[in-house]
Amino acid sequence: MFMASHIQRRAFSASARNLSKVTVLGAAGGIGQPLSLLLKLNPRVTELALYDIRGGPGVAADLSHINTKSTVKGYDPTPTGLANALKGAEVVLIPAGVPRKPGMTRDDLFNTNASIVRDLAKACAESCPEAKILVIANPVNSTVPICAEVFKSRGVYNPKRLFGVTTLDVVRASRFVSELKGTDPADENITVVGGHSGVTIVPLFSQSKHPELSSNAELIHRVQFGGDEVVKAKAGAGSATLSMAMAGARMAESVLRAGQGEKGIIEPTFVDSPLYKDRGVDFFSSKVELGPNGVEKIHPVGKIDANEEKMLEACLVDLKKNIEKGVAFVAQNP
Ligand code: NAD
Ligand code: LMR
Repeated sequence: MFMASHIQRRAFSASARNLSKVTVLGAAGGIGQPLSLLLKLNPRVTELALYDIRGGPGVAADLSHINTKSTVKGYDPTPTGLANALKGAEVVLIPAGVPRKPGMTRDDLFNTNASIVRDLAKACAESCPEAKILVIANPVNSTVPICAEVFKSRGVYNPKRLFGVTTLDVVRASRFVSELKGTDPADENITVVGGHSGVTIVPLFSQSKHPELSSNAELIHRVQFGGDEVVKAKAGAGSATLSMAMAGARMAESVLRAGQGEKGIIEPTFVDSPLYKDRGVDFFSSKVELGPNGVEKIHPVGKIDANEEKMLEACLVDLKKNIEKGVAFVAQNP
């Protein structure tokens, strides 16, 4: 009798711990659709909530026929749609916002995307203040501080639960190096630190298996401006969506695994970081160990060479401006 109830209790607590609602805001977009598909294929996700200003229910109906166990529901911007999509979410991914066209920088997206992200952050603060928020919408260097300011203004800011998704930069670095060296990208873990745009993206090849690559200007440029390659090739039809969906799904999977108690999960991500606060840079991407509450440990940048020192200096200058711009936006447009 004791045994049976004990086992039942254990089974209940195990399944309760493994119930993970994941919400995608901007789910009908170029990133949102393939990202939602990958999340539907992830057995850790038990409930998938897909919100968009248009098309959420259609994407949800389509994905709901895939024979994996999770339930899928789509939400429109009705008076309760966004709140219902967010209620009970463990993880919220935000790819809502406009993408670049050729000739634009990510900062050129600020005027449109800042208010989109601010308003979605307000909804998160209201409906799922405990959720881990993964911001994909650009410019990430500014949209993450925007979320932080909104959460602070509502008294629900937890720096451990807010992440800018910079995974695509390490995915690219790993692939580009493997192409150059004829190796398996699975064996090429390249650390990339800083932010997510141009010179704020700092690959640290001196820490890789190929330290000589830290003087390869062409490769460094390719990692820093990889997004431009895709924007140019899509010729006005947007920016990276499929590779970004893969990178976002990887980040979500890592956050969920750590949330379920797995140890030693490390991802690069743009977080509220102590590393360069003395330089006025409150957010920085470095290797972050994830845990049940989100950020567990922020790893320092570590030993870098003279060329990387120079890149880091340039990164900090731009990053500070990008972060301040996000903070000022919320102060002026609460
Ligand atoms: P997209 O235009 O194809 O899709 C965006 C979606 O967001 C659309 O479906 C749109 O209806 C929706 N949307 C707009 N306003 C919304 C709101 N208020 N609430 C909910 N949904 C809303 O664009 P995309 O290619 O999917 O890119 C989305 C964003 O992701 C862009 O800002 C892009 O720059 C960024 N991005 C970031 C990375 C990264 O590494 N972090 C990589 C690629 C793209
Ligand atoms: C990327 O790195 O591909 C994204 O940030 C999209 C872009 O604008 O380049």
